[in-house]
Amino acid sequence: MKTILATGGAGYIGSHFVNKAKSRYKIVVVDNFREGKKNVITHKNVTYSKTDIRDRKALLKVFKKHEIDLVVHYAALASVPDSMETPEEYYRTNVKGGLNVLSAMKETGVKNIVFSSSASVYGEPESEIIKEDHPKNPTNPYGKTKLIFEGILKDYHRAYGINSVSFRYFCASGCDESKKIGEHHTPESHVIPSIIETILGKRDMFYVCGNDFQTKDGTGIRDYIHVNDLASAHLLAGEMLLSGKPTCEQFNLGINKGFSVLELISAAEKISGKKLPYQLKGRRPGDPSKLIADATKAQKFLGWKPEYTDISEIIKTAYDFKKIKK
Ligand SMILES: NC(=O)c1ccc[n+]([C@@H]2O[C@H](COP(=O)([O-])OP(=O)(O)OC[C@H]3O[C@@H](n4cnc5c(N)ncnc54)[C@H](O)[C@@H]3O)[C@@H](O)[C@H]2O)c1
Repeated sequence: MKTILATGGAGYIGSHFVNKAKSRYKIVVVDNFREGKKNVITHKNVTYSKTDIRDRKALLKVFKKHEIDLVVHYAALASVPDSMETPEEYYRTNVKGGLNVLSAMKETGVKNIVFSSSASVYGEPESEIIKEDHPKNPTNPYGKTKLIFEGILKDYHRAYGINSVSFRYFCASGCDESKKIGEHHTPESHVIPSIIETILGKRDMFYVCGNDFQTKDGTGIRDYIHVNDLASAHLLAGEMLLSGKPTCEQFNLGINKGFSVLELISAAEKISGKKLPYQLKGRRPGDPSKLIADATKAQKFLGWKPEYTDISEIIKTAYDFKKIKK
């Protein structure tokens, strides 16, 4: 059985990957548990190591202890508004921490990595639908760290033969239907869990940040992809890398459809049968108006296809998880 090291594997998206991959691979989760929870998945093939990717020596120790075949690199600071306030922390974790991961790979002969990049590398869209060759002008430090790391991966491929797939996720959303794992960031800045927490009375008010974007109803439009579809793309990419194919590719992952904040509110109200208390607020700095993926490259190259394409179905999985979570 091959071994995967999953940085950030205790977090929202990483735990869904671990859940999907656990019966076919041994998995070593490396996480500092800033956000993620230890032992969120209990299985004989999954072990957890409390390690901070900013600690180069400690990280190298983990790589030396296990024979790693593939790295999936989720660990990062991942909030756009937070990155505007504390950019240095973002460069330290997302760029320097990422470099520590690559150094440990280089030193222990690991050749394959799947990287969680982001649609925020594109910045303000110049076309209705975004393809991978769209200009990259990130509007916030978070997006800049992701673009820098993609560039580093290209250099590591050329110079050291490290193979990589960078996935530019659009908005990760939903939860596994088991309701055992789901989304909980602190503080929560993502729109779907914030709407649901407010509907469930866990927050007093939901704030719609900006109603003057160049969109059909003035609110921001995003492409929402279910976490289990992200997990299956990672498995396909991992299998391709493990087959030894020399690769350094970037792929969008989305459902090729966009929904406005008001459309999400209306869907959540229908699912819950409750009215959402919300107020309009100014735009958040660094937020583009609209991000919709053209994900046909991933579909052609990897044979990947998203299973969840109905926004109500996606929100329902998140709602069911939040409803039972204290
Ligand atoms: N959620 C989204 O919509 C979205 C969109 C695009 C890209 N991404 C990327 O996907 C990845 C996972 O995002 P998520 O939403 O699951 O976030 P998350 O915060 O739930 O997961 C990140 C995990 O990394 C861990 N971590 C953070 N800093 C660390 C460090 N220094 N050392 C070790 N572990 C550390 C956290 O404890 C957490 O478990 C991130 O790289 C993020 O940038 C997320």
